[in-house]
Amino acid sequence: MPIKEPLALFQKWFEEAQYSDGIHLATSMTLATASKAGRPSSRIVGVKGFDKSGFKIATNKNSRKAKDMDENPFASLMFYWESMNRMVRIDGPVEKLDTKATSDIWKGFPRAAQLTHSASKQDDILPDKSTLVQKKAELTQQYADSTPIPPNPEWCAYNLIPDWWEFYQVVTDLPDRIIFRKPEAGETPDGKALHQGDEGWILERVYP
Ligand SMILES: Cc1cc2nc3c(=O)[nH]c(=O)nc-3n(C[C@H](O)[C@H](O)[C@H](O)COP(=O)(O)O)c2cc1C
Repeated sequence: MPIKEPLALFQKWFEEAQYSDGIHLATSMTLATASKAGRPSSRIVGVKGFDKSGFKIATNKNSRKAKDMDENPFASLMFYWESMNRMVRIDGPVEKLDTKATSDIWKGFPRAAQLTHSASKQDDILPDKSTLVQKKAELTQQYADSTPIPPNPEWCAYNLIPDWWEFYQVVTDLPDRIIFRKPEAGETPDGKALHQGDEGWILERVYP
């Protein structure tokens, strides 16, 4: 039976990508944001978890993406799993996560990543790399006794709440494109072009 709910379909594709030999970082995605003035910007980030509540992103408060999402709280995610010929796009509003949720994400980082994130002032000018190397070495020594490394106070996290999804897959030379979205006021699926999904979603196939 086809999956009629986007999170379940995403979960299936994500697991297949994680176990695929040709994909090393299934968690990597493009995050596109825009400033208040509408100037777009994109970069790769790692998804820090996803569930019914949304997709978690962690970053530094000084970063362009954080500033964008603070002043224009909408973003777009794109996973591209090349060797599987699959792409997933996910759009929606973003919300800033509280200190506890941010700290929980931090605890899930490998220790080496915690040290790097603590040493880094993301997006500030770094005149020479040795400054960062030295800072990380100092922190490595400071936490050599394996005491927990506290979250960098400059670190923050966001949750993107999906309201539009595209699942794209090339099948025998021709791409399939399935869109999941919420119905507009008065819109009723006819079961031909527009289909009723689960959990309030509707889905439609569009030309590639
Ligand atoms: C594989 C990969 C994963 C990354 N993951 C993150 C991440 O989770 N958070 C983050 O802030 N930057 C991450 N980066 C760095 C960003 O791509 C980017 O260079 C940095 O965050 C500054 O972006 P900004 O100035 O547009 O905010 C990652 C880069 C790569 C290549």
